[in-house]
Amino acid sequence: MSHTPYSRSGRSTPLSFRDVVLDVMKNFKHEKESEAHRIFRESAGHKPKGLLPQTVNLDEETVPGIIHPGSTGVIYCSDRAMANGFSYASSHEWANLGQGAPEVGQIPDAPLKPSTIEVPTDSLEYAPTTGVKALREAVAELYNVTYRQGKESQYTYENVCIVPGGRAGLSRVAAVVGDVYCSYQVPDYTAYDQVLSAFRRLVPVPTALEEETKYKLDIAQTKKDIKNQGLEVILASNPRNPTGQVIKDNDLKELVALMRETSTTLVLDEFYSWYIYPEDEAELGKSVSSAEFIEDVNSDSIVIVDGLTKNWRLPGWRVCWVIGPKNLVTALSQSGSFLDGGANHPLQLAAIPLLDPERVKGEKLALQKHFKHKRDHVLRRLERLGLKVSIPPTSTFYVWLSLENLPAPINNGLTFFEELLKEKTIVIPGIFFDINPAHRRNLFNSPCHHFVRLSFGPPLEDLDKGLDAIGRVLKKAKKEGMSGFGHSYKKSLDSAIQLEKMSK
Ligand SMILES: Cc1ncc(COP(=O)(O)O)c(C=O)c1O
Repeated sequence: MSHTPYSRSGRSTPLSFRDVVLDVMKNFKHEKESEAHRIFRESAGHKPKGLLPQTVNLDEETVPGIIHPGSTGVIYCSDRAMANGFSYASSHEWANLGQGAPEVGQIPDAPLKPSTIEVPTDSLEYAPTTGVKALREAVAELYNVTYRQGKESQYTYENVCIVPGGRAGLSRVAAVVGDVYCSYQVPDYTAYDQVLSAFRRLVPVPTALEEETKYKLDIAQTKKDIKNQGLEVILASNPRNPTGQVIKDNDLKELVALMRETSTTLVLDEFYSWYIYPEDEAELGKSVSSAEFIEDVNSDSIVIVDGLTKNWRLPGWRVCWVIGPKNLVTALSQSGSFLDGGANHPLQLAAIPLLDPERVKGEKLALQKHFKHKRDHVLRRLERLGLKVSIPPTSTFYVWLSLENLPAPINNGLTFFEELLKEKTIVIPGIFFDINPAHRRNLFNSPCHHFVRLSFGPPLEDLDKGLDAIGRVLKKAKKEGMSGFGHSYKKSLDSAIQLEKMSK
């Protein structure tokens, strides 16, 4: 990003870099001075923790004995969008680059999706909490064909548990983790924080990933942490949401081997395993899974979570799976029986033909070509806007975009998000990928604070709409200076927010 062209309101001459830096230092040193951050703190569950006396927030007082969990990033962002006029009826006027789901319509060369679902009488009954056997077999077969050809140890249906969605799968796993240290990394998928803290036996241990090392999980350090901190379970998304980086090939092999060597359980959330964008076109069509490096499917303690949500582009079906040693699957059957009761029976039956390895091959190839094109398009347009992405995604459909070089206040994710809402565009502020952001006394100290996550899940036209909106915000900053930013945010549809009294 070039530094000089932004000017303060009322000035016609461009500012020097020094002026801009002084401006940044003068303004917004603390979250209390930022309207976007005050709105965040005022919504339920986002008060700073550990400060005495606790400020009373009426929204957090639900009913006796109930603690408000705080709104998740997704809920917070959609509530704020609604306060700015977003509704499902008006959604076509908006660009939702916050969307954590892929476009679900037909994409070039992809096999057609079913448009009707059969509902045989048997499927009106409960399905087993581990899922329909024929679907479990189809999942095992797909992993054996894709990742385990020629290997002695093969998956069977007993290694597969069907679950009603990825988060349900993660919750089932979290519910059976004992009183142990469970490590996860930051930034990673926002739901881990809530999923892990909802199950109070395990102790979540966060590890910060560094921008300088491209958010790479340091395997040597992980080995030390297992030994020194006594970690017993490690949870990670791979490919990783929101950084778009992936552990693969030898690194993944090493990580799996480390788990075997140290008897540590690795829970890998592989929801984006098909969203891989190799530089070499000849490599297109390959996906990434730890299943490739497991020696014995029943003794290597690797737990894989995946499903139809992202790879098959069927988030509404709620048909997913957890794969692991047989004994894990019997434990998940128990936690499923009190947590969720199992996945939808007719849709499990309808999912079986979608797992046919030949069909999957075609789907994967079409998906990679289409999403690679969208990724390249978004990165090119961002660069033209002066927002070159320093660590471009090699996987997933997310861009982890640093705003650091923009002038304050639009150089932080929460304010940038509010300014884009005025332009009918949704992005996700980076702080939602931090360790429970409400625990921070000053959100400005979060390493994710100057980031937003942009999704290239939606169709290309929507991406362009959102990029146009980003262009308008940057143009306004250059032309009119910064005085028009950082305020006048709507708390609800009807009223511009009055936040002065909250700032003291
Ligand atoms: C890494 C990761 N895992 C799991 C999920 C959620 O899966 P589901 O919608 O099936 O619960 C998401 C969705 O955003 C995700 O990003």
